[in-house]
Amino acid sequence: MSKTIIISNRLPVQLQISDGGLTATPSVGGLATGMKSVHSGGESLWIGWSGLTEEDTPADLESEIDKALAKHGCAKVNLTANEIDGFYFGFSNRTIWPLFHYFLEYTEFELDFWNVYKSVNQKFADAIIEQSNEDDTIWVHDYQLMLVPQMVREKRPNTSIGFFLHIPFPSYEIFRTMPWREEVLEGLLGSDLIGFHTYDYERHFLSSVRRLLGLEVSFNDVYQDHRVIKVDSFPMGIDYKKFRDAAIAHGKNAPENRSDFQIKLDDHKASAPDTKLIISIDRLDYSKGIAKRINAFEYFLNKYPQYKEKVRLIILAVPSRSNVPQYQLLKKEIDELVGRINGELSTVNWTPIWYFYRSMPFENLIDLYTSSDIAWLTPLRDGMNLVAKEYIATRIDKTGVLILSEMAGSAYEMNEALLINPNNFEQQADTLKQAITMPKEEQMARNMFLQNRLERYNVEVWANEFMNALNQKSEGDDTFV
Ligand code: UDP
Ligand code: G6P
Repeated sequence: MSKTIIISNRLPVQLQISDGGLTATPSVGGLATGMKSVHSGGESLWIGWSGLTEEDTPADLESEIDKALAKHGCAKVNLTANEIDGFYFGFSNRTIWPLFHYFLEYTEFELDFWNVYKSVNQKFADAIIEQSNEDDTIWVHDYQLMLVPQMVREKRPNTSIGFFLHIPFPSYEIFRTMPWREEVLEGLLGSDLIGFHTYDYERHFLSSVRRLLGLEVSFNDVYQDHRVIKVDSFPMGIDYKKFRDAAIAHGKNAPENRSDFQIKLDDHKASAPDTKLIISIDRLDYSKGIAKRINAFEYFLNKYPQYKEKVRLIILAVPSRSNVPQYQLLKKEIDELVGRINGELSTVNWTPIWYFYRSMPFENLIDLYTSSDIAWLTPLRDGMNLVAKEYIATRIDKTGVLILSEMAGSAYEMNEALLINPNNFEQQADTLKQAITMPKEEQMARNMFLQNRLERYNVEVWANEFMNALNQKSEGDDTFV
């Protein structure tokens, strides 16, 4: 029977070796959390990096690792510490990530990174060939693996290959600065179908294909060497039911079954009933605009001092890519900012910012989503931003206000949220005031539209639409002479 092979750098679980043996923890990030729901329901194998280096893995643990991953329908690609440095911390996260998020000043063009990226992409392609059959469907994910489609195509000319990019595709003017731009485009064009979150990313990609490779592009078809490659946008949804059901169950929790974290949040609410809780949840990443958000919060408190002691900002920043220097600098900047603002503004009864630098289990994420009055998400650039969608899905009584950056892919589908430009402090201060004073009826009216849309275009629908488009493509005769 033919199956779907999902392939991404990050698997839905990460393995660690500790004294007690092997442990598996859920991965953080939109790709892993979203695809996990699709994968668990179907006949698929997910291939990726286990989170361990080859050097850290004793030979006698290999089969235990394979078994642990097989339980989650996964298989591993082994990477050495050197490969992780050049491929993951290097080309993926010091070249492509900053460039595609328009942070040119952070982008490093290192030939060594590029060479390791190529060889690791070949490793992933070889793993696919080894673990799949000719009639399986291959679905490659994200910027770490952009050369894989062409590498698989070379060995499997007739296999159906889809690729989905979970981050923005930048405008031609940005993309053209990369020394290896043609190779990256050729790599992607090994696919039959290439998907993006928004129409703008799709348009940018097609423009680069036309201008850099000189290929014919008609509507959303690219013509190359007797093949037609389809390009389209598929905005990723969330597992709406999972978040909604968790929030419903959370609401029914007997007081003694509350988590410790929820008890703290409830104590806080009881001691200051008219204080509004504002949450922000992101990986600690410069693309998320966390430092700017903290500055904007200070600006707001200075512009509207009547809200001192009446609002609290909870920042959950999840550790991410901490071997990359820009992430270390950002961590330091945020630590200092939070320290300074709390030091200057705190009173005996009030600390303006609660800052958590860690990841939270699903249960505590639901505590946070359901306990807050406002979610404030200010990415400077974000492929989609699923946190915005998850927050809305958990608002069972339809109250709650979402303030969302217009630079996030999800803003295109979430017009009823309060959309802001994260660089405009004046606008954000006024929008925070609007959110704090928004009547419940207006909150509910806005969220009703948002919830209906999220429920309809959930992650399963997203995956089905992508796979149907890929299957239709394979069934049709789309070669040309
Ligand atoms: N998330 C998580 N643990 C945490 C905080 C967040 O698993 O402690 C999840 C969150 O629920 C969401 C994902 O991480 O599904 C973040 O995805 P998003 O698209 O917002 O941003 P990304 O991290 O992919 O850039
Ligand atoms: C974003 C990327 C994913 C990545 C995730 C977490 O969502 O699109 O490909 O997995 O961030 O980042 P990490 O580097 O920890 O995998």
